[in-house]
Amino acid sequence: MNTMLRRSITLIAVLAIVAVFIVIQTQTGEDNLPTWPTSVPAGKIDFKKNVRPLLIINCLECHNSEDAPANGNLNLETRELAMNTGNNPPILVPGKPDESRLITVLTLEGIHQQAMPPTPDKIWGVRMEILRRWIEEGADWPASVRLVHPREIKEW
Ligand code: HEC
Repeated sequence: MNTMLRRSITLIAVLAIVAVFIVIQTQTGEDNLPTWPTSVPAGKIDFKKNVRPLLIINCLECHNSEDAPANGNLNLETRELAMNTGNNPPILVPGKPDESRLITVLTLEGIHQQAMPPTPDKIWGVRMEILRRWIEEGADWPASVRLVHPREIKEW
């Protein structure tokens, strides 16, 4: 095989790989997942914008009204439901992230830590800081914002 031909084949192979990569990228783009912020937003944390997608993607698959009984009986669809944990201590203690089990379960080793989030994409860094700041600032969560199972989200 002459050098010219070999070079062309290499070039075609590289282009084919790039093309496949672009197609895959475009397809995952169709899932319309929000992109995670790379830094903690300045100013007060906006629940709808910064916390809602985080909770939906990482928690609502299990902690919704249908599946809650199998998942620690924790329903995270509304603030009221999240605060209403029966005999268990509250999972959200406004102003106190270190006392909020919504945070502490994410930092503990154990069954829950392994299950969650179901992807290898654990909550840490910026996303953890967003959750902590949101609770520190009072864990505002407008009654009109109801969280749903991620499969029900058409648009973020
Ligand atoms: C794959 C399913 C699954 C996902 C996703 C999930 N959890 Fe859980 N969660 C469970 C199960 C199962 C339990 C109960 C088991 C246990 O006691 O550890 C539980 C229990 C909990 C509890 C303790 C409830 C209580 O009142 O004692 C908290 C708090 C909690 N989850 C928070 C979260 C948060 C926050 C997220 C998202 C960041 C999340 N979970 C995502 C399955 C899940």
